[in-house]
Amino acid sequence: MNNVSRVVLAYSGGLDTSVAVKWITQEWGAEVVALAVDVGQSADDDWETVRQRALAAGAVEAVVIDARSEFADDYCLPALQANALYEGKYPLVSALSRPVIVKHLVAAARQFNADAVAHGCTGKGNDQVRFEVSSRALAPDLEVLAPVRVWGFTREDSIDYALRHEIPITVRKDNPYSIDENLWGRAIECGVIEDPWVAPPSEPYALTADPSHAPTEPWELTVAFEAGKPVSLDGEPMDLVSLIEAVSKRVGSYGWGRLDMVENRRVGIKSREVYECPGSLALIMAHADLESITLERDLMREKARLEPRYAELVYDGLWFSPLRASLDAFMAESQLPVTGEVRLRLEPGRCWVTGRRAEKGLYDHGLATYDATDSFRHEDAAGFVRLWGLGLETVARTQGPPE
Ligand code: ARG
Repeated sequence: MNNVSRVVLAYSGGLDTSVAVKWITQEWGAEVVALAVDVGQSADDDWETVRQRALAAGAVEAVVIDARSEFADDYCLPALQANALYEGKYPLVSALSRPVIVKHLVAAARQFNADAVAHGCTGKGNDQVRFEVSSRALAPDLEVLAPVRVWGFTREDSIDYALRHEIPITVRKDNPYSIDENLWGRAIECGVIEDPWVAPPSEPYALTADPSHAPTEPWELTVAFEAGKPVSLDGEPMDLVSLIEAVSKRVGSYGWGRLDMVENRRVGIKSREVYECPGSLALIMAHADLESITLERDLMREKARLEPRYAELVYDGLWFSPLRASLDAFMAESQLPVTGEVRLRLEPGRCWVTGRRAEKGLYDHGLATYDATDSFRHEDAAGFVRLWGLGLETVARTQGPPE
């Protein structure tokens, strides 16, 4: 049906992509190279098991790429610096991982002389958009295949297909959720939460404790940033992957970082989504707080206007766009003074900032204080305020005050 002879498939080790290996081979007569990309998801199986499963499903080659530091440094970090929250809430977990996966898909397609890449996304979601738009942006000559959109299998059909073809899957029939996870957090869809009125049940959570099971002793974390990059935790220097993992684990143990939202998908569907993002949300909170003390007012306000736009671009699959690159250049420049420390306090179900400091911060105690060390020139205020209001005063004198 498709005129392709070799396909690199983004392989997760789950049911759909395992079925896809066989299905593409059989129905489209193409060889499949399975590519699994480690972006920090906690796999049920180790990566060698995942690789072997792809081969058992009929892949001619199966490759695992550890993209964790690349994902942290080149995708999570820019998003952190942009305080990127889609619709004001969601830190773009899945949206950020797709471009890095596609980058490796395209590289593998070149390496293995493939003429197409493929993904296991459905036709209703955002992820198909991100895979396909990213792939076209990087390699317009490659075909992009979406078998799941074509085969029309229910979950039961997929399981039957796998059993019939002796594909070694480990499906838990009792698990109705669709989960996507990486270093930046975890997305949970389907099952009972498809009813937006139903309270999220506790069973699908994995990164966050129920607040009633959190430690009762409060905990404090100090995150240090250099030019907008988190570099140490409680004084201990760390690479970004370890730092995100450590913050995530600690904050999650206090039962903070869950989100419950109805969001607007790119394809026009409103969907109810539940997330747990203890690490990314805590880091964004700390980062934005440090900006409040290190960024000049106009820069801070202009940046705040661009942040939602940045989040939309990434959500909508436009990572590899000139606009994202240009916004990143702006964001990167803005981060030069964002050096300092932020203290987060954790209590069951809560995480908040209790202090921030920056050697070159713009907070000037002498200017801000009301005590005797005050260095503000009070006499300057009267003239400034008079001129600030001069325009309105003129309106009132000539045209009369507003009703
Ligand atoms: N709604 C989120 C997004 O579009 C998460 C998608 C997660 N995918 C999944 N298979 N659960 O970014």
